[in-house]
Amino acid sequence: MPWTRERLEDVARNRLGGAKLVVVANREPYLHSFDGEGIRCTTPASGLTTALDPVMRACGGTWVAHGSGDADRVMSDELGRVPVPPDQPAYTLRRVWLTKEEEQGYYYGFANEAFWPLCHIAYARPRFDSDDWAQYRAVNRKFAEAVLEEVESGPAVVFVQDYHFALLPRLLRDARPDLVIVHFWHIPWPNREAFRVCPWQDDILDGLLGNDLLSFHVQDHCNNFLETVDRGIESRIDMERFAVTRNGRTTLVQPHPISIDPDVVAASVERNLDYEARRLRNRLRIGNEKLLVGVDRVDYTKGIAERFRAVDRLLQRHPDLKTTFTFVQVGAPSRVHIPAYRRLNEELSELADEINWRHAAGAWRPIVFLNEQCGARQIYVLDRLAAACVVSSLHDGMNLVAKEFVAARTDGRGVLVLSRFAGAARELLDAVLINPYAIDEFAEALRLALTMPDEEQEQRMARLRQEVATNNVYRWAGMLLSEASKLVQARPAAESRPSIEILA
Ligand code: G6P
Repeated sequence: MPWTRERLEDVARNRLGGAKLVVVANREPYLHSFDGEGIRCTTPASGLTTALDPVMRACGGTWVAHGSGDADRVMSDELGRVPVPPDQPAYTLRRVWLTKEEEQGYYYGFANEAFWPLCHIAYARPRFDSDDWAQYRAVNRKFAEAVLEEVESGPAVVFVQDYHFALLPRLLRDARPDLVIVHFWHIPWPNREAFRVCPWQDDILDGLLGNDLLSFHVQDHCNNFLETVDRGIESRIDMERFAVTRNGRTTLVQPHPISIDPDVVAASVERNLDYEARRLRNRLRIGNEKLLVGVDRVDYTKGIAERFRAVDRLLQRHPDLKTTFTFVQVGAPSRVHIPAYRRLNEELSELADEINWRHAAGAWRPIVFLNEQCGARQIYVLDRLAAACVVSSLHDGMNLVAKEFVAARTDGRGVLVLSRFAGAARELLDAVLINPYAIDEFAEALRLALTMPDEEQEQRMARLRQEVATNNVYRWAGMLLSEASKLVQARPAAESRPSIEILA
């Protein structure tokens, strides 16, 4: 039976035994900001929030997140709660307020200057700073307090997201042994050798072993985690069940690849497609040449510079391709308070300028770099118009841009050029798979994509679309919630009540 929104709703309603669902993710799914006289509500550029919002719409419950919009407080009640989506409320967003120092140390500092480069093999050096670590710990405690308020005294499933909250499961477990805690780690887990440079590795592993279930996208990352635990901390590993037992409690470690709702993408792209397509071509000043498209947050793990260099190499080798295509790169600025990210925006603009200067012909330029956030619909239309979508991550947990591209191709055409080092490459086998570091191979893959016969495109795209339709986001959430429901049923009733003092 396929996984649908209805089937997921059924699991949430009937199989969780009345347990409340509380999601914890740093990034909020809806953000309010002042816009001239009024207040604007936007959705952030994050695969995680794109994937989880439809799940929460289906299941209801509470999403606990950092309230980062400058108008968030105005739009929330005194506890930081606001019903969302604003036009059709289906669940509660509980905003946690952070001071600038907390945000700097926990989010920019430890999460994104230490954890992010530690987990992604992109040859960026992690920066371990004990003040950042202190803030990371404090903010994990602050979130634990908010979660304990939200779960109240009844049974609950807490679904923790990502590397911002490695310490949260242990804090929750100590305060409420009866909670079912499931953690999804959206980024890769490095091998043991890479991880052991982290000065606080024991606290992190102990924190994560507060979970009942810890999940990654792919089996390799589960194996890396188990090996890290095996060599790093006192525990017993059961390789038959992929389970770790520490101090009498067991954490299951399982792969569950995240996905999207392809029907939402398809419905959005079909609406007024011709009109939207004309508008977009006019706006980007693109004629009828073929489009290659890239859509990313500007992040050094995404391989955007490699992509530009592959375009450069393609034109050096095949000057006859000049004016036949334009590469449109949407690059949403991200984490710009971190110097490496700020610099990257500038470096990419300079690189695009240099390549454009080298190959310009009349008004034609090979690269259009849109260094801004675009709305989801615009992106889907761009996907739909493209001859190929290029995802060239140097390392990526999954990459949902690749799946969105496939979902947007209701015409059954288009080529996906995909890095072997993205989790999505394990599922999307009919993509043209590349090593983004091998620029010559990458350039040839672009040529292949630009010249692939329709029939081959259609065959590949049919299989890709089947894959995304079957392994959709409802399946991802459904599998995790089904695991959670088994844990709920096996758990004795609450012995302890929320005790915030335990956290002090
Ligand atoms: C990755 C992470 C998410 C994060 C997203 C956007 O996908 O796994 O947790 O939300 O990047 O990054 P940001 O720092 O803006 O939330």
